[in-house]
Parts: sequence; structure tokens; C-alpha cells
Amino acid sequence: MRLAVLVSGTGSILDSMLERGIEVSLVLADRPCPALQRVEGRVGATELLERSDWGRSFDRDAYTDGLVARLADHGIGLVAMAGFGTVLGPALFDRFPGRVLNTHPALLPSFPGWHAVGQALEAGVKVTGCTVHIATAEVDSGPILAQEAVEVRPGDTEESLHERIKAVERQLYPATLAAFIDELEAGGAPAMGETE
Ligand code: GAR
Repeated sequence: MRLAVLVSGTGSILDSMLERGIEVSLVLADRPCPALQRVEGRVGATELLERSDWGRSFDRDAYTDGLVARLADHGIGLVAMAGFGTVLGPALFDRFPGRVLNTHPALLPSFPGWHAVGQALEAGVKVTGCTVHIATAEVDSGPILAQEAVEVRPGDTEESLHERIKAVERQLYPATLAAFIDELEAGGAPAMGETE
């Protein structure tokens, strides 16, 4: 099962997958980012599919088609998003039903979206955390595979809280992904859409 990891940031979650021994065939980024550099030579291939338009005219479907084509070029069967900053169109989820995973820095369904950590702080919750889930065309709403709580401490900033959440994600995501791959390779876990 050839795995692609999609990144936009520092790549510390991707790094934790590699440290766990998960084989990554392709790392694809939507912008130049430290994640691409830190894995050079440690994964099958890296690709920069640069998004040039961050405005309202962004053609999400065309970008997604381009991304799906790159995944197909590399014979990818499973996709893991690890801090990928572009919301992708339905073509990805049609092409890989039940085969796109994501980690999110909050206890979904609370605080979906890109500002989850800041919103949890603003809401004054005492406990937040992270969620590993199957990604679907509706952002941050697919079936939950694993969650772990993280306490919010007095004086926490968005940065300090996010760093403690990421420390948990770096354990939870690789473990959940490895178990998912094992189950796929054992012939279990039919893809979403393959069952009635
Ligand atoms: C992680 O906290 C991940 O949950 C978050 O980006 C961070 C990536 O960290 N993703 C989202 O917020 C997606 N909505 P990294 O670049 O150090 O791996």
C-alpha cells in the first residue's frame, strides 16, 4: 500500500511517522515549507504542487485534479494529511474513498477548521486534544478513528497549547496510521463506498 503524506508546515507529524518506521512513498506540499526539506532522501519522492492563488478565484477543483493526478503518477493507495493547508475538492475523496486520513488539533466535532487551537483557548475549555479521522469532502467531519485529550493550563498561549497537542499527535497519528495500514494489508476495513 503506497502512502502519500500531504504537508504545508514544519512536518513534525510527518517526521514522527518516519521515526515509527512507516514507509512513505510520496510527500506532497502545497507551498515551499520546512517539511519538504526535512524529509528529502528519507521518503520515496517529494513533490511541490504549489498553490499560486490564495484568493476567492482559487480553482479548488482544478488544483485537486492536479493533486489526484500526481498521486496516480506515484501509484498511491492511501493518503495521510499532516498539517495540509489547502481544503481539497470532492475529486480526492471520490478517488480514495475511506483512504484519506487526517489529524486535527482539537476534539472533533468541536473546533473544526484551521484555527482550532486559538478557538479552544478563546472558548475557555479546560480540556481540548486531537483527533485522527477519516477525511471526507466535508472538512473535519469524517469518521473518528482515535482521540486523546490534552489539558488546557492557566497561562497557555496558542503556541504552548498547540505544541503540547502536537506532542500527543506525534504519538497518536503514527500509531493509528500503522494500525490502519496493517488492517488494510490484512484485507479488513473495506473502503467507504464499497459497503452498502
Ligand atoms: C498539526 O497540529 C495538525 O493537527 C494541524 O497542523 C499541525 C501540523 O504540524 N492540522 C490542522 O490544523 C488541519 N486542520 P506539523 O507541520 O509540525 O506536522
